Amino acid sequence: MSTRPTSPAPAGPVFRVEAVTRIYRTGSVAVQALRGVTLALAEGEMVVLLGASGSGKSTLLNILGGLDQPSTGRVFFRDQELTRVSDRALTAFRRDHVGFVFQFYNLVPSLNARENVALVTEIARNPMRPEEALERVGLGARMDHFPAELSGGEQQRVAIARAIAKRPDVLLCDEPTGALDSATGIQVLEALTQVNRDLGTATVMVTHNASIRRIAHRVVVLGDGQIKSDTVNDTRVDPREVSW
Ligand SMILES: Nc1ncnc2c1ncn2[C@@H]1O[C@H](COP(=O)(O)OP(=O)(O)O)[C@@H](O)[C@H]1O
Ligand SMILES: [Mg+2]
Repeated sequence: MSTRPTSPAPAGPVFRVEAVTRIYRTGSVAVQALRGVTLALAEGEMVVLLGASGSGKSTLLNILGGLDQPSTGRVFFRDQELTRVSDRALTAFRRDHVGFVFQFYNLVPSLNARENVALVTEIARNPMRPEEALERVGLGARMDHFPAELSGGEQQRVAIARAIAKRPDVLLCDEPTGALDSATGIQVLEALTQVNRDLGTATVMVTHNASIRRIAHRVVVLGDGQIKSDTVNDTRVDPREVSW
C-alpha cells in the first residue's frame, strides 16, 4: 500500500471543546451521550471521528456545528465561545462558518445539480460559483443532471459542493458514506480529501467505518461518550486504496 507524507496542518485550534457533557432527558429517563469530552481541532485539519453506534459521535458533531448545545462544559470556535452566545449568534455562526454533509443528501429533486448548489450561493456572502463547487467534487460534466439521474455517490458529491460553495471554515460530515458501497463511497472520500487539501477547510468526518481512518490527519475514537484514543497519522493513504 503506497502512502504519502502527512503535510502539516496550519497551527492554532479552530475548535476547542472543554469538559463537554450532553445529557438527553426523555421523561424520567436520562441518557448521557457525552461524558466529559476535551479536544482541540487545528485549522485545516482533517479528522476522522470514529466509534460504535451510540458512542456520541453525532452529538459531538452537532455541538461543534452549533446545532445543539452541551449540558455542561465549554465550546470555542476560534475566539468565540459558542456556549455563551445567543441563539441568533449561533445561527449566524452556522450560516457563516459551517458546511454540513449528512448521510442522506437532501437534494431538491426538481432542481438540477447546478441549481441545488445555487440555492446556497444565492444567500452566501462570498460564495464560489456553483460550477466551481461542482468541478471541485469531480462533477463538472454532470451539472445539468437532476438528482434522479445521478448515482448515490454523485448525489452526495452534489451535497458536498453545496456545503463548500459558501466557503465555510469547517466542514462537518456525519456518516457521508454510510449509504454508499465501497466504490462510490471512495469517490466521496476523494472529494472531501481534495477540498480539504485545496481549500484548507477543516473537516470532521464521523464514521463507524474503521477502514477509512488512515485517510485523515488524525483519528479520534469515541466510546460510550468519552474519547478512547486520539492519534495523529504519520502517513495518510489515498482514499482509492481503501475498501470496505
Ligand atoms: N435526541 C435524543 N434524545 C434522546 N437520546 C438521544 C438523542 N440523540 C441521541 N441520543 C442518545 O445519545 C447516545 C449517543 O447518540 P449519538 O450521538 O447519536 O451516537 P452516534 O452518532 O455515535 O451513533 C445514544 O445512546 C443515543 O440513543
Ligand atoms: Mg450518529
